[in-house]
Amino acid sequence: MNPRINQQSKKRIAVIPGDGIGKEVIPQALQVMQAAGTAVEFTEFDWGADRYLGDGTTVPPDGFAMLGRDFDAILVGAFGDPRVKTNIHAKEILLGMRFKMDLYANVRPVRLLDAALCPLKDVEPKDVDFVVVRENTEGLYTDAGGVFKQDTADEIATQEDINTRKGVERIVRYAFEYCRQNQKLDGSPRGKVLMCDKSNAMTHAGGLWQRVFKEVSAEYSQVTAQHMYVDALCMQMVRDPRQFDVIVTNNMFGDIITDLAAALQGGLGMAASGNIHPGRTSMFEPVHGSAPPIAGKNIPNPLGAILTGAMMLRHLGFTREPDKIEAAVLEAVRQKKTTQDIGGTLGTREAGEWVAQAARG
Ligand code: NAD
Ligand code: IPM
Ligand code: MN
Repeated sequence: MNPRINQQSKKRIAVIPGDGIGKEVIPQALQVMQAAGTAVEFTEFDWGADRYLGDGTTVPPDGFAMLGRDFDAILVGAFGDPRVKTNIHAKEILLGMRFKMDLYANVRPVRLLDAALCPLKDVEPKDVDFVVVRENTEGLYTDAGGVFKQDTADEIATQEDINTRKGVERIVRYAFEYCRQNQKLDGSPRGKVLMCDKSNAMTHAGGLWQRVFKEVSAEYSQVTAQHMYVDALCMQMVRDPRQFDVIVTNNMFGDIITDLAAALQGGLGMAASGNIHPGRTSMFEPVHGSAPPIAGKNIPNPLGAILTGAMMLRHLGFTREPDKIEAAVLEAVRQKKTTQDIGGTLGTREAGEWVAQAARG
């Protein structure tokens, strides 16, 4: 999907661990990629709360242009620090990358590796194997809006929901292409794209999504097009996750439903994601945040970050190495060589080391 990338040379990866548990899980992802024998070269950047609190820098001048120019992909941990109440650095770095590098497709696979990880009863791994394709550059996240008469009794706050035909069309098309080009874990073909919105209440934005979805789906006669309101989708996701294949939705709903979907996989510690613009330098990050309550204690689950590394490698054209990494993660889960959140007894470093050893073989 990324023609610019040449499979022969060593891939250059920019690594931004960020804040909190990002600093603990990313080193494990790097260690595992190296153990799997991947031809990559890592360059680490200190963007995050510590640097911001030290010198006021969020993104250095020319930072995004440099990432796009000098790197094949970017691996990110998480941003968010209780000392930075405004969250300005996270907004400028994380949302900055997504928006300014135009990484319009936030791809969040939802895969259950072992039945023991799912909070639902009578659910097997093959029952949870879908992907959420989240619009990543507009919607309620553009910062359009404002506050008037702040701190008075007459205060007004607006937050505009921006939906462009171009933005909606390209993400819907991405979802159909993803469906056409990707298989399920058991090797069977994908065949359904479901658009999730709230067009019964938010008629202007919803109307545009509905019209575009109808137009684009007509071009893909071999793919079944479906629709669900977001509230009903949340209910169905816990009632019967088997029915989902590819879900396409806006920025806000995509954020919310992927935390819910993470729970089906064993929690936020297991979920991977990519922020993709085909043909351009794309960014990969676990779905979880900086989790301040468990940061710095060797507690966080590194598997989401490790699986994110594998996802990045696949995007870059590697196959053998991500296969090895994913097999090693699966084995760790099966043998409970994991952190406590998913039933093991290991610390972050020990869990990462176990996967690295298994990926080495
Ligand atoms: P969070 O994802 O950081 O964590 C919520 C809870 O989930 C944690 O307290 C922990 O119990 C659990 N958890 C998350 N990751 C885990 C892991 N790897 N292993 C084990 N347990 C894990 O969400 P939050 O508490 O809402 O947000 C904390 C900070 O992170 C905030 O500043 C928020 O803005 C930020 N955030 C950043 C990103 C990102 O950078 N991509 C994503 C989400 C939240
Ligand atoms: C995510 C996060 C971010 C989002 C936050 C940190 C801005 O929750 O990546 O899921 O809302 O997109
Ligand atoms: Mn989120």
